[in-house]
Amino acid sequence: MVAHTVLLDFTVPSDVILDVEKRSNLKLAIANVLQEHFDGLKPLTESSIDGSFLVLYTGPKGSLITVRGYTEGLITVNIEYYKRDEEEALLDFEQWRYLEADVAMALNSQRSKRLPPVRRGTIYDLYLTLSDDRLLEYDIDKLVFEARSPYQKVQIVHSKSLGNLLVLDELQNISEADLIYTETLMQRGKENYTGKEIVILGGGDGGLLWELLKEKPKFVTMLEIDDVVIKACSQHMRSICGDCLDKRKGENYEIIVGDCAKTLAHMIEEGRQFDYVFGDLTDIPISPTPHGDAWDFMRLILNSSMKVLKSTGKYMTHGNGASCPQSLEMYEQVLSQLCVPVTFTKDSAFVPSFFEDWVFYQVSLK
Ligand SMILES: C[S@@+](CC[C@H](N)C(=O)[O-])C[C@H]1O[C@@H](n2cnc3c(N)ncnc32)[C@H](O)[C@@H]1O
Repeated sequence: MVAHTVLLDFTVPSDVILDVEKRSNLKLAIANVLQEHFDGLKPLTESSIDGSFLVLYTGPKGSLITVRGYTEGLITVNIEYYKRDEEEALLDFEQWRYLEADVAMALNSQRSKRLPPVRRGTIYDLYLTLSDDRLLEYDIDKLVFEARSPYQKVQIVHSKSLGNLLVLDELQNISEADLIYTETLMQRGKENYTGKEIVILGGGDGGLLWELLKEKPKFVTMLEIDDVVIKACSQHMRSICGDCLDKRKGENYEIIVGDCAKTLAHMIEEGRQFDYVFGDLTDIPISPTPHGDAWDFMRLILNSSMKVLKSTGKYMTHGNGASCPQSLEMYEQVLSQLCVPVTFTKDSAFVPSFFEDWVFYQVSLK
C-alpha cells in the first residue's frame, strides 16, 4: 500500500511556452495524448505561476496528473496515485514507455526522461542516501524489526541482494553482505590481535566483536549505548555477530551498555590502557548529554580514546564515503588538533550496503 509517483520530463524550445498560441496548442497536444492513455481523464484546474503554466487532471484510480510548462522550455508531467497491495499498477512498464514516447512525439521534444515509479509511504525506507546525499533505491522487500529506542529509530530490513540490513535513523549501518566493512576497519591480516586488550566504542551490531574474537584477543570490552540495537542484531543479524551478543559477558569479552564517553572517562580515571580502541559509532554519535555540536562530541571521544591507548596502541575507525571529501578533510583536521600529536594511515573499501567506497583510519600516537 503505497503512493506511486511517476515523473516524466520533456524539453521544447522556450518560445513554445512563451508564445500564447503555441502554448495553447502544446497544452492541447498533451491533453490529447493523456486522454488516449488514461480513461476518464478530467481537467481539474489550470493556472499560471511565475510565467509557467500548470494544468491539473484527475485520472483513473484516483490519480492526479500535474502538467507544468516552465518558460525555459522544460515540461514536467507528474502522475501520482495510491496503489493498494492487491491492485495492479496504473500502467505497466511498457505502457509508461509508450506514454513517454507519445508525449515526446506530440511535442516534438528534443529530450525526454521518465523515472520509474517513486514509492512513498512504505513501512520501510526504500530510499537511503550516499554520503553526499545522493538518492539510492534498495531492493528491500520486508521489514524484519522495528522499534524506537530512547536514542534512535532502529530498523532491520531485508534486502534481496544484501540480506538483512541494520538501519539506524534512516542511515544504513551494516548488512549481512558487509564483512569487508569489518575486515577493513580491523585491517585483518595487517594487525595482530592475539593476546591484545581492546575496546570497541559502539559496534552494537556485534560484527566487529565477533570477528575480533576469532583472532584470540586477551579481552574485548564493547561500549554500546543502545540495548535495542544489541537485542535486535542478536536475533536478526546472526550471520554477522554469531552468538556473541546473546550474553553480556563471555570468557574474554564484556558488553557494557551505556554512553561510551562516560565509560571512557571512568577508564581514564582508573588509568586503564589498551592496545586498540575501535571507533565503530554511528556517523553522528549519540550524545546523551549536551556537548556542543556533533564535531565537539567526536573530539571528546577521540581525545578520551587517545588517553586510554598504550604508547604503541592504535585507534581504528571508519571515516566517511570517498564521495564526501570535505567531511574527510574536516575529520583529518580534527585528528591534527587532538590533545596529543598523532599520525594516521588510511584504507578504503567498497561496502555493499553503502554502495560506495568507504574510508577507514588507523591512528597512532606520535
Ligand atoms: C551499529 S554500529 C556500526 C557503525 C556503522 N557501521 C555505521 O555505518 O555507522 C554503531 C553503533 O554506535 C552506537 N552509538 C552511537 N553513539 C554512541 C555512544 N555515545 N556510546 C555508545 N554507543 C554509541 C549506536 O547505538 C550504534 O549501535
